[in-house]
Amino acid sequence: MSKSFYVTTPIYYVNGRPHIGHAYTTIAADAFTRWRRAIGESAFFLTGTDEHGQKVWETANKRGMGALEHCDDMVNNAWKPVFAKLDLSYDRFFRTTDADHIAVVQAALRDLQGKTVFDPRTGAEEPMLYEAQYEGWYHVKDEIFVTEKDVEEGRYDRSELARITESNWWFRMGAFQERLLAHIEANPGFIQPEGRRNEVLGFLRKPLNDLCISRPKSRMPWGVEIPFAPDFVTYVWFDALLNYVTGTGWHPDPALRKPGWEALWPATVQLLGKDILTTHAVYWSTMLMALGLDLPETLFAHGWWTSRDGEKMSKSKGNVIDVELLVDVFGVDAVRYFLLREIAFGQDGGFSYEGFLVRYNADLANDLGNLAHRALSMTTQWLGGVVPAWSEAGRWRAEASAEAAAAVQGMAQGMSGWQPHLALEAAMRLARVGNLHIDQSAPWALNKAGDTPAVADSLRVALELCFVAATLLRPVMPAKMDALLAKLGRKPAQAEAWLREVLAGRPVALDALPVGSALQVGDPLFQRHREMPGAIAALFAPPAAEPVAEAVPRKPEVAYEDFAKLDLRAGRILAAEPHPKADKLLVLQVEVGDPRPRQIVAGIRSKYEPVDLIGRQVVVVCNLKPAKLRGVESQGMLLAAGAEAVVDLVSVSAEPGEVVR
Ligand code: MSP
Repeated sequence: MSKSFYVTTPIYYVNGRPHIGHAYTTIAADAFTRWRRAIGESAFFLTGTDEHGQKVWETANKRGMGALEHCDDMVNNAWKPVFAKLDLSYDRFFRTTDADHIAVVQAALRDLQGKTVFDPRTGAEEPMLYEAQYEGWYHVKDEIFVTEKDVEEGRYDRSELARITESNWWFRMGAFQERLLAHIEANPGFIQPEGRRNEVLGFLRKPLNDLCISRPKSRMPWGVEIPFAPDFVTYVWFDALLNYVTGTGWHPDPALRKPGWEALWPATVQLLGKDILTTHAVYWSTMLMALGLDLPETLFAHGWWTSRDGEKMSKSKGNVIDVELLVDVFGVDAVRYFLLREIAFGQDGGFSYEGFLVRYNADLANDLGNLAHRALSMTTQWLGGVVPAWSEAGRWRAEASAEAAAAVQGMAQGMSGWQPHLALEAAMRLARVGNLHIDQSAPWALNKAGDTPAVADSLRVALELCFVAATLLRPVMPAKMDALLAKLGRKPAQAEAWLREVLAGRPVALDALPVGSALQVGDPLFQRHREMPGAIAALFAPPAAEPVAEAVPRKPEVAYEDFAKLDLRAGRILAAEPHPKADKLLVLQVEVGDPRPRQIVAGIRSKYEPVDLIGRQVVVVCNLKPAKLRGVESQGMLLAAGAEAVVDLVSVSAEPGEVVR
């Protein structure tokens, strides 16, 4: 059976709603999965919730609910809906309370209980699991035993420690120390990034203790019962880690394994935050060795999102970023893009809403959204809204093809090397290249000069670059990029087919769009936000006093005859370009019902970018005497609100040319 791509995320505690950190790991896993599916590999993506143990037990108690009732509520009313909102295409939402998992945990414990292992520390064959008395410190919140030395060295808050004496079951983890070290040394890609690998190697140079894998029910009953010791439940980590193999259909008894599990295990990559590297690199790896299973190909520990000044996010500090609000305000695709683009996968990064807004506007609204909107509107205006054929000369085609080919390679390398930020950088470069190409080839000038073949080449380059960018960015921004493909008249399956061919070696030639097929301009893909949207600004702003409008003196009366002298008409903006010499001015082409559009120079740049204006319906003063504004002729004026700076354009929905009175 051929091996499938298999990615896992940690399973998350259900003692709160998902926040940006949980979203981060899971979005990364989703993007890797979608990429594999797009390039034609079979892929399986497992995520879910970790429902047993002290923390969940306490949260349920505080809510006055049964533990399972609390978990059901959190999963159905928080985790699954938020994961749907984040557009996560997991194959299974794993719950440690699922019946198949409980069966696997118990069978694994039974299996291990019957086994022995050679323990280099005693020089003898020893039982894999054993019962022993423990007397010492216990950290209640983290559910771990703490050594005398750790306590003496002040590594823990004394008020969070309890002194306990109890009998427990232990896993002979220390017996695997040398084997694990040897595995990590022989497989440089096993723990990534490199710095984290060194941390684990450092940890393994000190003696490795055995792992306590039970908790007496008398202290905390919420967990998987140990089948041969019914007064105990399984330690939550020992239970939870097994999800990664339960999720494949594995069972300790070969007769009970689901067909197909071997195509999944060992996992291609297991993603986790750096906070839980030891539990994975050491507990999980030695558990797998004990169970006779292979180790995953890669454990990738990514960094932490902190507050903007590098502080750990925590509910008590009130600095947790509300990922649901971000999605409501900016849309899911923008959030997915930002999280994967902003920081290198593996490093920490500080989150700020301002940083989000800046990148959103720069990359999504300006670069990508602007390229698409310009290319589509200009093709609609000058080439009948269909994909133009390349001219004989095929101007700019070779250079642009080379850029597109490089972007495909960059994306593929970034995604297979767990570097989504580099993948996105490579794909997004196409948007900047495309805009620069439009600025330099100046299709409006070519159009004015009547050079239709050159207009066709110029716009074909821009449209094809949009297609390549959309195809590459789909795994990260599925909905928006499929919308962009639709504007270009292409279906997701056609984009995938193209990608597979190109990855199989077909040269990139910017010929993906069928000549003559219809394009759709519609609204820009990403609405620009000049200011922080209100819902987020309100998080920080003290309630503001009502702004007092500055009094602008009223003007003297005019007779109706004077007003009626103005020829006001409805108009539609067809094109908008920056004024070559003045920062505050835009040069517009406005249709007002005449055979040719009118050129109007308007001082509205402080409020509008050219791309925001295309297609807008406005009111034009048509009989204003033409004038030159900084050297460019203006044949009329738009009506706008705002005494000095423009606040809004007066808009109508009447067809261009309709009289306004
Ligand atoms: N239940 C355990 C994991 C068991 S896996 C067998 C657990 N759960 S958790 O709810 O605390 O989630 C931890 C994971 O959430 C981290 O490893 C990381 O993937 C993600 N993040 C939580 N906060 C984070 C940040 N602030 N930044 C980035 N990711 C972080 O531990």
